[in-house]
Amino acid sequence: MNPLAIHQAMAKAIALAAEEHPHPNPRVGAVLLAPDGSELGAGAHVAPGTPHAERIALANAGALGDDVTLVVTLEPCDHTGRTPPCTDAIIEAGIARVVIGALDPDSKVSGAGVERLRNAGIDVEVVDAESALGRAAVDLDPGYFHHRRTGRPQVVLKLAATLDGQVAAADGSSRWITGPAIRHRVHEWRARCDAVLVGAGTLIADDPRLDVRLDGHTGHQPRPIVVAGARELPDDAAIWERNPLVLATRSIEIPTGDLEVVGGTGQQVDLASGFRRIGELGMLRVFVEGGATLAASLVSQGLVDIGFVHFGAKFGLGVGRSMFDGIFATMESAHDIRVVGAELVGGDLEIRWEPAR
Ligand SMILES: NC(=O)c1ccc[n+]([C@@H]2O[C@H](COP(=O)([O-])OP(=O)(O)OC[C@H]3O[C@@H](n4cnc5c(N)ncnc54)[C@H](OP(=O)(O)O)[C@@H]3O)[C@@H](O)[C@H]2O)c1
Repeated sequence: MNPLAIHQAMAKAIALAAEEHPHPNPRVGAVLLAPDGSELGAGAHVAPGTPHAERIALANAGALGDDVTLVVTLEPCDHTGRTPPCTDAIIEAGIARVVIGALDPDSKVSGAGVERLRNAGIDVEVVDAESALGRAAVDLDPGYFHHRRTGRPQVVLKLAATLDGQVAAADGSSRWITGPAIRHRVHEWRARCDAVLVGAGTLIADDPRLDVRLDGHTGHQPRPIVVAGARELPDDAAIWERNPLVLATRSIEIPTGDLEVVGGTGQQVDLASGFRRIGELGMLRVFVEGGATLAASLVSQGLVDIGFVHFGAKFGLGVGRSMFDGIFATMESAHDIRVVGAELVGGDLEIRWEPAR
């Protein structure tokens, strides 16, 4: 088989899967190729409990003929969950060769799918994890890989600050530090994530909706999550219309949504336990949007996987709220990060960072 045909089929499988949001299941796409490289069928996994990508591609293809190659973004499962194992369907269909974009880090799969297919005499190739295609297969669903490898969701923290490092003015107002182009990016990030998390302070000060408001967006909406503390949460907040999840250290009354009581110190939620619980509930990627107190807790506890600081083209809030309110008192204790990107976006500056290795 022409390697270009495999490459194009994998790119198509990734593109098909990228349109879906099947969490807690992984995004998976599959394409079936005839020996001449032409496409026989394709599909992507859409939602938990519905057929996996391999079965959709097989159903779309109809009669297959000989020497068919299956190109699939993730290792096929070999266990029965809500649906039967994909390996059964592949073996029964008489597929000759399977090209896999990435091995599945889930302990229920993790090599078992490859082994079963090889034992059935199928030629199995796993794309090199360091190649561009191998990385693209993981980048298709970073939250899934992160969650299965660490037991907690991938945490993406966004802070907007003026050029003098303030996240809010002295009166508590913070709208809008950045312009429309950056705010558009923020909505794109919300759309990529399963949940948007804020602290009680932001809920009380800003009453945010935390939803995706992009022209033409009709798809997935992230679930709002609030970390509650000592203060009472306002019962007329906009998020109560959006089935929120509230994390607290004690049982509290909330108008709608779900309460998860997790451990903590006093009324400060233990965020690591909170994230483990969020992951158990099937949310694999969380976008954190404030404010400074929550951000400081996350950074000081090493709970941020990807960070953005959006510097708005403004000066002069020097007596407002500083980004981390001086949690690190000396240069030695300052939190080292790795800046991995810097971009001018509509006149504002986006800094992307990751934890220092
Ligand atoms: N520029 C930006 O990117 C941005 C983003 C969001 C908000 N803001 C601004 O920031 C201000 C609100 O910031 P904030 O720092 O007061 O609010 P916050 O970080 O959203 O909320 C912090 C509160 O969450 C509760 N909490 C419970 N467990 C916690 C834990 N482990 N770690 C941290 N907090 C925990 C506490 O509530 P209790 O106090 O009730 O105990 C705490 O005071 C507003 O002015 C808002 O406009 C700016």
